[in-house]
Amino acid sequence: MTLTDSLIDFFLETRKHTENLCEPLEIEDYVVQPIVDVSPPKWHLGHTTWFFEEFILKPHLKDYKIFDEDFSFVFNSYYETVGKRVVRSDRGNLSRPSVESVYAYRSHVTKAVERLFVTTQSQELYDLLEIGIHHEKQHQELLLTDIKFILGNNPLLPSYSDTFKEHPLESTSKEWISMEEGIYEIGHNSEDFCYDNELGRHKVYLHPFKISNNLVTNQEYIEFIEAGGYKKFDLWHAEGWDWVNQNQISAPLYWHKIDGVWHNYTLKGLQTITPGAPVTHISYFEAFAFAQFKGCRLATEFEWEASQAFFTWGKRWEWTESAYLPYPNYTKAEGALGEYNGKFMVNQKVLRGGSVATPIKHTRFTYRNFFQTDLRWQYNGLRLVK
Ligand SMILES: [Fe+2]
Repeated sequence: MTLTDSLIDFFLETRKHTENLCEPLEIEDYVVQPIVDVSPPKWHLGHTTWFFEEFILKPHLKDYKIFDEDFSFVFNSYYETVGKRVVRSDRGNLSRPSVESVYAYRSHVTKAVERLFVTTQSQELYDLLEIGIHHEKQHQELLLTDIKFILGNNPLLPSYSDTFKEHPLESTSKEWISMEEGIYEIGHNSEDFCYDNELGRHKVYLHPFKISNNLVTNQEYIEFIEAGGYKKFDLWHAEGWDWVNQNQISAPLYWHKIDGVWHNYTLKGLQTITPGAPVTHISYFEAFAFAQFKGCRLATEFEWEASQAFFTWGKRWEWTESAYLPYPNYTKAEGALGEYNGKFMVNQKVLRGGSVATPIKHTRFTYRNFFQTDLRWQYNGLRLVK
């Protein structure tokens, strides 16, 4: 199989998987945007398609016929280089284009990309296709967490799928892994794909630390709630304490106490909490307060990367104590794709790991996810360090 064949297979498989994720949806589910951070499924379907049209087909396929001139305005997310766009908060107001026409757009673009690679191959095109595929995979994760938010905030709490498993159990043995002080190398170091924010491999000096082999569980988190963790100001950052009070937060997102029993909304619908499963849907503020409560702290992203070979990960995105900043020697890409990561390196915290919503072949131990400190609609959990 040639490089083109395998990359095109990867592309087609990725395109198909996005559509499979939407299969359980009703047509009305495609358009809802309950909060600004959550995009409607229809928008994800269109935006991931627009990415290939804008960055590959328009500049590289000579006879390419643009599907609809308005779609760049509708489906451009944040690329100033590309031009005007619908503001993020208006994505849920787009009753048009219809779901049907967005699926037709997907098919038009998928076929055109295939056609382009039959006649033209170059390293530049391979690189663009690869980033487009990984971009779509990134959106597959968002698509699932956005669907969860849409259905989980519908008062009827409908189920998305009877088979989706989101509660991996932790192993029962809790151990502290001792890491020695020393110089560790951080950052991506192979020929495989990575985002630009993983580059600028560099050395860091770490003091000795102990890191838990397991994520914090629901049971441990219930103990924090029942010990009054949400009422003790001294466990929280000032901003976190304001957030708790202004939003009347008293449990993770999707948790409901019904007749004295903790339940949580999952993609299978409302379920009783699984005590041994890793806690999820907590903000950085909550992760920090929980660690304080235990007399521990969160790992820095460097500690996490240096010790990841000694524990299993990938069940939850794990909040770290690290601010999302460029590595030394970070260089952003030329042109519009330079807007992909670099311009978000302010006021966010890094998460490491992956989650039940992360598609296969989409995370690695150098992957840096990032969110603002109050956001919790992703599968965010935590691991303790002392
Ligand atoms: Fe995107």
